[in-house]
Amino acid sequence: MNARDDQPELAPAAVITGATQGIGRALAEEFAKHGHTLLLVARNEAALAKTASEIAAAHDVPAHYAACDLSTLEGCNQLADVLRTKGLHCESLVNNAAIMTAGFFQDQDREELLKIVDLNMRAVVDLTRRFLPDMLARDKGGVLNVASLEGFMPVPYQATYAATKAFMISWSRSLAWEVFGSSVRICVVAPGPIETTMHEKAGAEYSRYMVYFPRMTPEAMAEAAYRRFMRGNWVIIEGFLNRVVAASVRFIPGIMLIPAVGWFFRVRDAEGNLQWPKGWKAPTGQDAGKGD
Ligand SMILES: NC(=O)c1ccc[n+]([C@@H]2O[C@H](COP(=O)([O-])OP(=O)(O)OC[C@H]3O[C@@H](n4cnc5c(N)ncnc54)[C@H](OP(=O)(O)O)[C@@H]3O)[C@@H](O)[C@H]2O)c1
Repeated sequence: MNARDDQPELAPAAVITGATQGIGRALAEEFAKHGHTLLLVARNEAALAKTASEIAAAHDVPAHYAACDLSTLEGCNQLADVLRTKGLHCESLVNNAAIMTAGFFQDQDREELLKIVDLNMRAVVDLTRRFLPDMLARDKGGVLNVASLEGFMPVPYQATYAATKAFMISWSRSLAWEVFGSSVRICVVAPGPIETTMHEKAGAEYSRYMVYFPRMTPEAMAEAAYRRFMRGNWVIIEGFLNRVVAASVRFIPGIMLIPAVGWFFRVRDAEGNLQWPKGWKAPTGQDAGKGD
């Protein structure tokens, strides 16, 4: 029995959102490799079942899953219910699930934009508020927030996504200070471009940042994030170039920084033609928009 409230003792688990692919999947592998029981979260139940059974078999740890849409309040409630039903408590929370869109803001789907806000920010606040008090009561565990290098700067054409990541970095650092002195860690990792399908899903796979910036594998990112999360680093930036970018953007005036970032993030097609706002015409035909 739990001495604190006479409830049956619950088993500790790492709750990892967005765990069926990309960075989330690699983080799940990393936590499993270190012996953590997992609760994997995403929307696609078949993908979750497959991921959970593969990870459980590979690392010999219990791997549970919860199919929830975390962009909704019901989805977050559902996740908390599954955790309870499985007899688990959240020892580590990895807020990784996120979506992005790319292009001119006025042409992006309004529902999709609201979903970005709900999933990338509201769900992160909701889940952390649900699970952090128990971590503090047990004086153990932590929250690993997966933000982005984009959170350090304004990013034209991915404005909403980047702003949610800026929120995450600011919020995470503030909370890290609030829990300072306890054994609970609150960390934020800010990856640069990673080899996942996220940019393709957003239609940004031909943007210049995808062409010119080196991409890290999800596995390398996850290994560093796990190691430095366990060490309790507040802000985790992996890779020399990413550290240089995060440090230098603070000193570049907006009048220079924002156009430069916009140059890298402008959406292009496979031939390098720039995207123009709907209803506009490229100034002197499509070739005028050729990137390089
Ligand atoms: N890829 C990069 O270059 C990069 C760079 C910097 C930061 N990041 C950050 O790293 C994290 C992971 O990115 P990634 O590239 O690995 O993404 P990804 O490959 O697109 O995977 C996204 C994961 O989130 C899940 N998901 C999406 N919507 C969801 C919802 N409404 N509720 C619950 N789960 C949902 C997806 O599964 P379902 O579709 O089944 O729900 C999937 O498992 C994100 O926070 C992203 O912002 C990525």
